[in-house]
Amino acid sequence: MTASRIVALGHYQPPKVLTNDDLAKLVDTDDEWIRSRVGVRTRHIAVDETLVDLATEAAQKALANSGLHAQQIDLVVVATCTAVERSPNTAAAVSARLGVPSPAAYDINTVCSGFSYALATADHAIRAGAATRALVIGAERMSDTIDWTDRSTCVIFGDGAGAAVVEAVPDEQSGIGPVLWGSEPDKGDAVVITGWDPTISQVGQTVFRWATTKIAPLARETCLKAGIEPSELKGFVAHQANLRIIDAIANKLGAPNAVIARDVVDSGNTSAASIPLALSKLVERGELVSGDPVLLFGFGGGLAYAGQVVRCP
Ligand code: UT7
Repeated sequence: MTASRIVALGHYQPPKVLTNDDLAKLVDTDDEWIRSRVGVRTRHIAVDETLVDLATEAAQKALANSGLHAQQIDLVVVATCTAVERSPNTAAAVSARLGVPSPAAYDINTVCSGFSYALATADHAIRAGAATRALVIGAERMSDTIDWTDRSTCVIFGDGAGAAVVEAVPDEQSGIGPVLWGSEPDKGDAVVITGWDPTISQVGQTVFRWATTKIAPLARETCLKAGIEPSELKGFVAHQANLRIIDAIANKLGAPNAVIARDVVDSGNTSAASIPLALSKLVERGELVSGDPVLLFGFGGGLAYAGQVVRCP
Protein backbone atom coordinates (compact mmCIF):
# COMPACT_ATOMS: atom_id res chain seq x y z
CA MET A 1 0.00 0.00 0.00
CA THR A 2 1.16 3.52 -0.78
CA ALA A 3 0.62 6.52 1.47
CA SER A 4 2.12 10.00 1.47
CA ARG A 5 4.03 12.41 3.67
CA ILE A 6 5.14 16.03 3.66
CA VAL A 7 8.86 16.17 2.82
CA ALA A 8 9.38 19.94 2.94
CA LEU A 9 7.63 23.25 3.48
CA GLY A 10 8.13 26.84 2.33
CA HIS A 11 6.39 30.17 2.66
CA TYR A 12 6.40 33.68 1.31
CA GLN A 13 4.94 37.00 2.42
CA PRO A 14 5.18 40.25 0.49
CA PRO A 15 7.52 42.77 2.17
CA LYS A 16 5.00 45.59 2.69
CA VAL A 17 3.69 45.54 6.28
CA LEU A 18 0.56 47.36 7.45
CA THR A 19 0.40 48.10 11.17
CA ASN A 20 -2.71 48.78 13.21
CA ASP A 21 -1.65 52.42 13.44
CA ASP A 22 -1.49 52.55 9.63
CA LEU A 23 -5.10 51.30 9.50
CA ALA A 24 -6.21 53.80 12.14
CA LYS A 25 -5.34 56.49 9.58
CA LEU A 26 -7.80 54.91 7.08
CA VAL A 27 -10.78 53.96 9.28
CA ASP A 28 -12.18 54.65 12.75
CA THR A 29 -10.24 51.99 14.67
CA ASP A 30 -7.30 51.68 17.02
CA ASP A 31 -4.52 49.30 17.97
CA GLU A 32 -6.17 48.35 21.27
CA TRP A 33 -9.48 47.28 19.62
CA ILE A 34 -7.73 45.24 16.93
CA ARG A 35 -5.36 43.51 19.36
CA SER A 36 -8.05 42.67 21.89
CA ARG A 37 -10.79 41.57 19.44
CA VAL A 38 -8.75 39.99 16.64
CA GLY A 39 -5.22 39.62 18.03
CA VAL A 40 -3.52 41.01 14.93
CA ARG A 41 -0.56 43.41 15.19
CA THR A 42 0.59 43.47 11.57
CA ARG A 43 -0.33 42.00 8.19
CA HIS A 44 1.61 41.78 4.90
CA ILE A 45 0.03 43.32 1.83
CA ALA A 46 0.99 42.57 -1.79
CA VAL A 47 1.66 45.67 -3.86
CA ASP A 48 3.19 44.52 -7.15
CA GLU A 49 3.11 40.77 -6.47
CA THR A 50 0.31 38.80 -8.12
CA LEU A 51 -1.33 35.75 -6.57
CA VAL A 52 0.80 33.59 -8.90
CA ASP A 53 3.95 35.39 -7.69
CA LEU A 54 3.09 34.64 -4.05
CA ALA A 55 2.30 30.99 -4.76
CA THR A 56 5.40 30.51 -6.92
CA GLU A 57 7.75 32.02 -4.30
CA ALA A 58 6.39 29.72 -1.58
CA ALA A 59 6.53 26.67 -3.85
CA GLN A 60 10.11 27.47 -4.91
CA LYS A 61 11.18 27.55 -1.26
CA ALA A 62 9.41 24.29 -0.48
CA LEU A 63 11.04 22.65 -3.51
CA ALA A 64 14.49 23.96 -2.54
CA ASN A 65 13.98 22.63 1.02
CA SER A 66 12.96 19.23 -0.38
CA GLY A 67 16.03 18.81 -2.58
CA LEU A 68 13.70 17.79 -5.42
CA HIS A 69 13.46 19.40 -8.85
CA ALA A 70 10.37 20.80 -10.53
CA GLN A 71 10.74 18.06 -13.17
CA GLN A 72 10.00 15.43 -10.51
CA ILE A 73 6.59 16.90 -9.59
CA ASP A 74 3.52 15.35 -11.23
CA LEU A 75 0.69 17.05 -9.32
CA VAL A 76 0.19 20.72 -8.38
CA VAL A 77 -2.79 21.79 -6.27
CA VAL A 78 -3.42 25.39 -5.26
CA ALA A 79 -5.96 26.31 -2.59
CA THR A 80 -7.15 29.87 -3.06
CA CYS A 81 -10.28 32.02 -3.05
CA THR A 82 -8.57 35.01 -4.66
CA ALA A 83 -7.67 33.76 -8.15
CA VAL A 84 -8.34 36.48 -10.72
CA GLU A 85 -7.81 34.39 -13.83
CA ARG A 86 -10.31 31.65 -14.68
CA SER A 87 -7.90 30.15 -17.18
CA PRO A 88 -5.14 29.18 -16.91
CA ASN A 89 -5.86 28.29 -13.30
CA THR A 90 -3.36 29.27 -10.60
CA ALA A 91 -1.84 25.77 -10.41
CA ALA A 92 -1.12 25.76 -14.17
CA ALA A 93 0.38 29.25 -14.04
CA VAL A 94 2.60 28.30 -11.08
CA SER A 95 3.64 25.06 -12.83
CA ALA A 96 4.68 27.03 -15.93
CA ARG A 97 6.75 29.42 -13.81
CA LEU A 98 8.44 26.58 -11.91
CA GLY A 99 9.05 24.46 -15.00
CA VAL A 100 6.93 21.50 -13.89
CA PRO A 101 6.65 19.74 -17.26
CA SER A 102 3.31 17.90 -17.32
CA PRO A 103 1.51 18.01 -14.00
CA ALA A 104 -2.09 17.40 -13.15
CA ALA A 105 -2.74 20.98 -12.04
CA TYR A 106 -5.89 22.27 -10.40
CA ASP A 107 -7.19 24.90 -7.98
CA ILE A 108 -9.44 24.30 -5.01
CA ASN A 109 -11.64 26.94 -3.44
CA THR A 110 -13.00 26.12 -0.03
CA VAL A 111 -11.87 29.52 1.26
CA CYS A 112 -10.12 29.31 4.66
CA SER A 113 -10.16 25.51 4.88
CA GLY A 114 -8.65 25.17 1.38
CA PHE A 115 -5.19 23.95 2.34
CA SER A 116 -6.47 20.93 4.27
CA TYR A 117 -8.77 20.07 1.36
CA ALA A 118 -5.88 20.41 -1.10
CA LEU A 119 -3.57 18.30 1.06
CA ALA A 120 -6.24 15.60 1.34
CA THR A 121 -6.80 15.44 -2.43
CA ALA A 122 -3.03 15.17 -3.03
CA ASP A 123 -2.80 12.37 -0.44
CA HIS A 124 -5.78 10.62 -2.04
CA ALA A 125 -4.29 10.96 -5.54
CA ILE A 126 -1.03 9.44 -4.36
CA ARG A 127 -2.83 6.62 -2.52
CA ALA A 128 -4.83 5.91 -5.69
CA GLY A 129 -1.65 5.71 -7.79
CA ALA A 130 -2.55 8.83 -9.80
CA ALA A 131 0.48 10.85 -8.63
CA THR A 132 3.82 10.33 -6.90
CA ARG A 133 5.11 13.79 -5.95
CA ALA A 134 2.89 16.79 -5.38
CA LEU A 135 3.18 20.46 -4.64
CA VAL A 136 0.33 21.61 -2.40
CA ILE A 137 0.05 25.37 -2.06
CA GLY A 138 -2.21 27.74 -0.14
CA ALA A 139 -1.99 31.27 -1.55
CA GLU A 140 -4.13 34.37 -1.14
CA ARG A 141 -4.20 38.04 -2.08
CA MET A 142 -6.99 38.85 0.37
CA SER A 143 -6.19 42.55 -0.07
CA ASP A 144 -7.88 42.33 -3.49
CA THR A 145 -11.18 41.64 -1.72
CA ILE A 146 -10.97 44.32 0.95
CA ASP A 147 -13.01 47.50 1.09
CA TRP A 148 -10.46 49.77 2.78
CA THR A 149 -13.29 51.92 4.18
CA ASP A 150 -14.88 48.94 6.03
CA ARG A 151 -13.32 48.72 9.49
CA SER A 152 -15.03 45.42 10.26
CA THR A 153 -12.97 43.58 7.63
CA CYS A 154 -9.92 45.65 6.63
CA VAL A 155 -8.20 45.09 9.98
CA ILE A 156 -8.40 41.29 9.77
CA PHE A 157 -6.89 40.05 6.53
CA GLY A 158 -3.44 39.77 4.93
CA ASP A 159 -1.67 38.30 1.91
CA GLY A 160 0.78 35.40 1.66
CA ALA A 161 1.44 31.83 0.63
CA GLY A 162 2.67 28.55 2.03
CA ALA A 163 3.55 25.31 0.26
CA ALA A 164 4.29 21.68 0.96
CA VAL A 165 6.07 19.06 -1.13
CA VAL A 166 4.28 15.74 -0.66
CA GLU A 167 5.60 12.38 -1.85
CA ALA A 168 4.57 8.75 -1.96
CA VAL A 169 5.89 6.52 0.83
CA PRO A 170 5.13 2.98 1.98
CA ASP A 171 2.02 2.84 4.16
CA GLU A 172 3.99 2.30 7.38
CA GLN A 173 5.73 5.67 6.82
CA SER A 174 2.46 7.54 6.24
CA GLY A 175 2.74 11.17 7.36
CA ILE A 176 -0.70 12.47 6.36
CA GLY A 177 -3.60 11.17 8.42
CA PRO A 178 -7.19 10.69 7.26
CA VAL A 179 -9.05 13.89 6.50
CA LEU A 180 -12.19 14.94 8.33
CA TRP A 181 -14.08 17.37 6.15
CA GLY A 182 -17.52 18.86 5.69
CA SER A 183 -19.48 22.09 5.67
CA GLU A 184 -22.67 23.80 6.77
CA PRO A 185 -23.80 25.28 3.45
CA ASP A 186 -27.10 26.54 4.88
CA LYS A 187 -25.02 29.07 6.84
CA GLY A 188 -22.69 29.70 3.89
CA ASP A 189 -23.62 33.34 3.43
CA ALA A 190 -22.00 34.23 6.76
CA VAL A 191 -18.87 34.90 4.67
CA VAL A 192 -19.38 36.33 1.20
CA ILE A 193 -16.83 37.31 -1.47
CA THR A 194 -18.76 38.25 -4.55
CA GLY A 195 -18.82 40.33 -7.72
CA TRP A 196 -16.40 40.92 -10.61
CA ASP A 197 -14.51 43.35 -8.39
CA PRO A 198 -14.97 41.10 -5.36
CA THR A 199 -15.45 42.49 -1.89
CA ILE A 200 -15.46 40.42 1.29
CA SER A 201 -18.22 40.83 3.84
CA GLN A 202 -19.07 38.65 6.80
CA VAL A 203 -21.40 38.25 9.74
CA GLY A 204 -18.47 38.12 12.09
CA GLN A 205 -20.35 37.04 15.19
CA THR A 206 -22.05 34.11 13.41
CA VAL A 207 -18.69 32.79 12.23
CA PHE A 208 -17.15 33.45 15.64
CA ARG A 209 -19.86 31.49 17.47
CA TRP A 210 -19.73 28.64 14.95
CA ALA A 211 -15.94 28.40 15.10
CA THR A 212 -15.72 28.51 18.89
CA THR A 213 -18.47 25.92 19.45
CA LYS A 214 -18.35 23.50 16.49
CA ILE A 215 -14.67 23.20 15.57
CA ALA A 216 -13.09 21.80 18.76
CA PRO A 217 -15.20 18.57 18.73
CA LEU A 218 -14.39 18.12 15.01
CA ALA A 219 -10.70 18.66 15.75
CA ARG A 220 -10.87 15.98 18.47
CA GLU A 221 -12.60 13.62 16.04
CA THR A 222 -9.80 14.24 13.52
CA CYS A 223 -7.27 13.08 16.13
CA LEU A 224 -9.40 10.00 16.81
CA LYS A 225 -9.44 9.16 13.08
CA ALA A 226 -5.64 9.40 13.10
CA GLY A 227 -5.42 7.13 16.17
CA ILE A 228 -3.83 9.80 18.33
CA GLU A 229 -4.89 11.54 21.56
CA PRO A 230 -4.88 15.36 21.55
CA SER A 231 -2.45 15.11 24.49
CA GLU A 232 0.06 13.40 22.17
CA LEU A 233 0.05 16.27 19.66
CA LYS A 234 3.27 18.28 19.40
CA GLY A 235 1.59 21.04 17.42
CA PHE A 236 -1.81 22.51 16.58
CA VAL A 237 -2.11 24.72 13.52
CA ALA A 238 -5.65 26.04 13.20
CA HIS A 239 -6.74 28.39 10.46
CA GLN A 240 -5.38 31.74 11.60
CA ALA A 241 -8.76 33.50 11.74
CA ASN A 242 -8.61 35.40 15.01
CA LEU A 243 -6.42 34.87 18.09
CA ARG A 244 -9.49 34.56 20.35
CA ILE A 245 -10.90 31.81 18.12
CA ILE A 246 -7.57 29.92 17.99
CA ASP A 247 -7.15 30.04 21.77
CA ALA A 248 -10.77 29.02 22.41
CA ILE A 249 -10.44 25.96 20.13
CA ALA A 250 -7.02 25.04 21.57
CA ASN A 251 -8.38 25.22 25.14
CA LYS A 252 -11.34 22.99 24.31
CA LEU A 253 -9.17 20.56 22.33
CA GLY A 254 -6.88 20.02 25.32
CA ALA A 255 -3.45 19.59 23.77
CA PRO A 256 -1.12 20.53 26.64
CA ASN A 257 2.03 19.34 24.87
CA ALA A 258 1.34 21.10 21.57
CA VAL A 259 2.88 24.29 20.25
CA ILE A 260 -0.11 26.42 19.25
CA ALA A 261 0.38 28.38 16.00
CA ARG A 262 -0.39 32.07 16.58
CA ASP A 263 0.93 33.51 13.33
CA VAL A 264 -2.28 35.57 13.00
CA VAL A 265 -0.58 38.11 15.29
CA ASP A 266 2.05 38.97 12.66
CA SER A 267 0.30 37.93 9.45
CA GLY A 268 -3.43 38.53 9.92
CA ASN A 269 -5.93 36.12 8.43
CA THR A 270 -4.55 34.86 5.11
CA SER A 271 -7.40 32.43 4.42
CA ALA A 272 -6.16 29.30 2.60
CA ALA A 273 -2.53 30.38 3.05
CA SER A 274 -2.70 30.64 6.83
CA ILE A 275 -2.10 26.98 7.76
CA PRO A 276 0.92 26.22 5.52
CA LEU A 277 2.36 29.68 6.31
CA ALA A 278 2.14 29.11 10.07
CA LEU A 279 3.34 25.48 9.86
CA SER A 280 6.30 26.39 7.65
CA LYS A 281 7.38 29.10 10.09
CA LEU A 282 7.16 26.78 13.12
CA VAL A 283 9.32 24.19 11.34
CA GLU A 284 11.79 26.84 10.11
CA ARG A 285 12.19 28.18 13.65
CA GLY A 286 12.75 24.66 15.00
CA GLU A 287 9.65 24.82 17.24
CA LEU A 288 8.44 21.65 15.53
CA VAL A 289 10.86 18.95 14.43
CA SER A 290 10.84 16.03 12.03
CA GLY A 291 8.26 13.40 12.90
CA ASP A 292 6.26 15.61 15.28
CA PRO A 293 2.50 14.93 15.01
CA VAL A 294 0.64 18.16 14.25
CA LEU A 295 -3.09 18.72 13.87
CA LEU A 296 -4.01 21.01 11.00
CA PHE A 297 -7.56 22.31 11.04
CA GLY A 298 -9.07 24.79 8.59
CA PHE A 299 -12.50 26.43 8.81
CA GLY A 300 -14.27 29.50 7.48
CA GLY A 301 -16.03 30.59 4.28
CA GLY A 302 -18.92 28.37 3.14
CA LEU A 303 -18.73 27.30 6.75
CA ALA A 304 -16.55 24.56 5.33
CA TYR A 305 -13.97 22.78 7.44
CA ALA A 306 -11.24 20.18 7.00
CA GLY A 307 -8.40 18.83 9.06
CA GLN A 308 -5.85 16.07 9.36
CA VAL A 309 -2.94 15.05 11.58
CA VAL A 310 0.37 15.27 9.74
CA ARG A 311 3.95 14.39 10.65
CA CYS A 312 6.42 17.26 10.35
CA PRO A 313 9.04 16.95 7.61
O1 UT7 B 1 -11.57 33.53 8.01
C1 UT7 B 1 -12.83 33.98 7.55
C2 UT7 B 1 -13.88 33.58 8.50
N1 UT7 B 1 -14.21 34.68 9.37
C3 UT7 B 1 -13.91 34.71 10.68
O2 UT7 B 1 -13.28 33.83 11.21
C4 UT7 B 1 -14.44 35.89 11.48
C5 UT7 B 1 -14.94 35.47 12.84
N2 UT7 B 1 -15.34 36.62 13.60
C6 UT7 B 1 -14.49 37.46 14.24
O3 UT7 B 1 -13.30 37.25 14.20
C7 UT7 B 1 -15.07 38.60 15.02
O4 UT7 B 1 -16.48 38.50 15.04
C8 UT7 B 1 -14.67 39.99 14.43
C9 UT7 B 1 -13.18 40.24 14.68
C10 UT7 B 1 -14.97 40.05 12.96
C11 UT7 B 1 -15.44 41.10 15.16
O5 UT7 B 1 -15.23 41.03 16.55
P1 UT7 B 1 -16.47 41.07 17.56
O6 UT7 B 1 -15.90 40.99 18.91
O7 UT7 B 1 -17.43 40.00 17.15
O8 UT7 B 1 -17.03 42.52 17.32
P2 UT7 B 1 -18.49 42.96 16.80
O9 UT7 B 1 -18.66 42.66 15.36
O10 UT7 B 1 -19.51 42.47 17.77
O11 UT7 B 1 -18.41 44.52 16.96
C12 UT7 B 1 -18.35 45.14 18.27
C13 UT7 B 1 -18.23 46.64 18.07
C14 UT7 B 1 -19.28 47.20 17.12
O12 UT7 B 1 -19.65 48.48 17.60
P3 UT7 B 1 -21.02 48.68 18.42
O13 UT7 B 1 -22.12 48.22 17.47
O14 UT7 B 1 -20.91 47.78 19.62
O15 UT7 B 1 -21.03 50.12 18.73
C15 UT7 B 1 -18.52 47.40 15.82
O16 UT7 B 1 -19.04 48.44 15.02
O17 UT7 B 1 -16.97 46.96 17.49
C16 UT7 B 1 -17.16 47.80 16.35
N3 UT7 B 1 -16.07 47.55 15.41
C17 UT7 B 1 -14.88 48.15 15.51
N4 UT7 B 1 -14.41 49.07 16.36
C18 UT7 B 1 -13.15 49.49 16.19
C19 UT7 B 1 -16.05 46.68 14.36
N5 UT7 B 1 -14.85 46.73 13.75
C20 UT7 B 1 -14.11 47.63 14.45
C21 UT7 B 1 -12.80 48.11 14.32
N6 UT7 B 1 -12.34 49.02 15.21
N7 UT7 B 1 -11.95 47.67 13.36
